Amino acid sequence: MKQLITLHINGETHEVWTAVHKTLLELLREDLHLTGTKHGCELGECGACTVLVAGQPVLACLTLPVAVQGQDIVTVEGLAVNGRAHPLQAAFAELGASQCGYCSPGMLVSAKALLDTTPHPTRQEIREALAGNLCRCTGYLKIFEAVELAAGRSG
Ligand code: FES
Ligand code: FES
Repeated sequence: MKQLITLHINGETHEVWTAVHKTLLELLREDLHLTGTKHGCELGECGACTVLVAGQPVLACLTLPVAVQGQDIVTVEGLAVNGRAHPLQAAFAELGASQCGYCSPGMLVSAKALLDTTPHPTRQEIREALAGNLCRCTGYLKIFEAVELAAGRSG
């Protein structure tokens, strides 16, 4: 059984008929081909599927699309502005904060939510904001430094 869902994603409105059992993560990846949001544990434990809903980090694997209709959703594809990388993306690239890159989309949107409300966070605030995003590669230090670099450039 399918239902018609209307979602506002990265500034665009999408109407999609989708299976009622699909999560927001599945709808983004399978129906809209927005594959930047990663499919990890599907249990709410890894943060790879993090997107922003009304500015707040949300786990797309635990979210039903119908619950977020009418709200602004931002995925990693929506971070760049006019074709230019978001300062967080630039800092991640410069400092090697992405290795395999699987956690990076979730890290980036969680970090964006932090900087949008706390432009100059402390290291502890960064740790807390990213606590739900697991990385098996970096040891986290480069990620924290990249967030600090982006924050430092925001003036
Ligand atoms: S895939 Fe959603 S938290 Fe892991
Ligand atoms: S860069 Fe590989 S999981 Fe984080």
